[in-house]
Amino acid sequence: MNRREFLTWVGVGGLASYLPVAIAACSPKATQSESPASPVRTDGFQPVGTVAELGQKGQILNKEFSGGAVLVVQNPANPKAVTAVNPSCTHEGCTVTWQADQKQFVCPCHDSKFTLDGKVTQGPAKTPLVTYEAKLEGNSVLVKAGKS
Ligand code: FES
Repeated sequence: MNRREFLTWVGVGGLASYLPVAIAACSPKATQSESPASPVRTDGFQPVGTVAELGQKGQILNKEFSGGAVLVVQNPANPKAVTAVNPSCTHEGCTVTWQADQKQFVCPCHDSKFTLDGKVTQGPAKTPLVTYEAKLEGNSVLVKAGKS
């Protein structure tokens, strides 16, 4: 290998090592909660985010919830009420998102749709989303592990 070939080889390797960083920097900001994992309280509820965060984004996705990932949204008819679901689509496991304009959870993979309480309104999914008991308390959004 001569000097020119060596420098070309090092240049390509260096560029390749920066590629994942560049891709990550260009990715859209996730709606995932910035809050650190909080311990489960004695009453079974776990803080998964803040009311301010929920108000800003309209939804909180917390992947550190003790019951698995949880997606919390405000009830469009009553902003003081919240709904929490496991965001794993019951068809093949893609992560659903809350579409506030449609007032439903939508799966990006095969377009299954679910009501606020997790019921299927459009397949191919046949089984409802798993739901959790959720509430607002002070500035915290709390979710209880286990089916509601
Ligand atoms: S994984 Fe959600 S519709 Fe297929």
